[in-house]
Amino acid sequence: MNAFLGLAEQAMARLDRLAEHSELPDGLTRRFLSPEHRAVADLVAGWMRDAGMTAAMDAAGNVVGRTEGAVPGGPALIIGSHLDTVRDAGKYDGMLGVISGIACVQALRDKGERPPFAIEVVGFGDEEGVRFQSTLLGSRALAGDFDPAMLRATDRDGVDLRQAFLDFGLDPDAIPAIARAPEDVLAYVELHIEQGPVLEDEGLGVGTVTAIASMARFTVYAEGVAGHAGTVPMRLRHDALAAAAECALMVERRAKAAPGLVGTVGRFKVSPGATNVIPGAVEFNIDLRAPTDADRHALVDAVLADVAAIAERRGVALDCHKTIDEPACQCAPWIMDQIDAAIAATGGRPFRLASGAGHDAAAMARITDVGMIFVRCRDGISHNPLEQITVQDAAAGIATLSSFIRHFEPRP
Ligand code: HGY
Ligand code: MN
Ligand code: MN
Repeated sequence: MNAFLGLAEQAMARLDRLAEHSELPDGLTRRFLSPEHRAVADLVAGWMRDAGMTAAMDAAGNVVGRTEGAVPGGPALIIGSHLDTVRDAGKYDGMLGVISGIACVQALRDKGERPPFAIEVVGFGDEEGVRFQSTLLGSRALAGDFDPAMLRATDRDGVDLRQAFLDFGLDPDAIPAIARAPEDVLAYVELHIEQGPVLEDEGLGVGTVTAIASMARFTVYAEGVAGHAGTVPMRLRHDALAAAAECALMVERRAKAAPGLVGTVGRFKVSPGATNVIPGAVEFNIDLRAPTDADRHALVDAVLADVAAIAERRGVALDCHKTIDEPACQCAPWIMDQIDAAIAATGGRPFRLASGAGHDAAAMARITDVGMIFVRCRDGISHNPLEQITVQDAAAGIATLSSFIRHFEPRP
């Protein structure tokens, strides 16, 4: 483990460097195809080259580093995670996996070792989907699942995704060509902070992920009637925000109804947004997750039925647009076994746990078998500036990933 403490200290310093590139003066928000994205992409590409990899940005805005194996151009083990963040984020969600992948390639180089297979490290440009309400956009593009309709999505300034790519110097029409053929990928493995309290509760620094939760997300447009806050009697109102708020409480009630379900309304955009005007329109999001696809379908059906009833009773139009419909993603048993072995080989206790958070691995599962390594984070806090890991756990993560790579047996 000590051999990895130096790499972990370097990794922590690099994560601090990346966190400096934010659109906030006092916090971390880094959106897709932003100047901040460009800055961290350049830093990451440079560190990839320092580790002996080639490095370039692909048409979807992903930074891709590669080191060849015995057969140049041969199939690769892909290691990745994302470089974008949520609003007012922590500095480990996503970035830790990219920086740890680079550290492992650097460790191989330092030992003069060259695995028989190629290794790619990918920094995906858009996983959180903050700017365009997309999600897993970069990894879905690499998996050949980019939806061209997304190019019409606009950000809060009205810039559409197509224009944002062009402004960033990328050609969106070249995105389909970056899709990887399944035969060119041996497996995909992602190291990520757990973003939950389980490893900390077990007293473990790392764990093997079994599955990624099933997820559905909606943007809802509530259309009521704006009016004077002082003159319209309560019985005659069609208050869009009151309807949206009732939906939020309904989502919470529905999600509390069964173990493993979660439901969140994380964003309200109210108009006209004046104190003395009854809100005429609200745009809000509903995020629903469940351990299985059947649970997700049942939760979605119940929530949509309740939304329709609220709309009817309040005389407010509630128009639901599905933006994500991600099935549960099972990690491959043969990869989980090799991650367990790597944890044991580096002095850890193999432990398996599910992920309630979504990850790029769910997109990559469209073309290859996937696995994930979780790293403990303090109090399980994430999507929050208080997100924190220790350098010792960063070292345990890098040691585990490194051992996994060095002993990786591609599926026969
Ligand atoms: O929402 C998620 O689970 C991930 O952080 N994008
Ligand atoms: Mn996240
Ligand atoms: Mn993440």
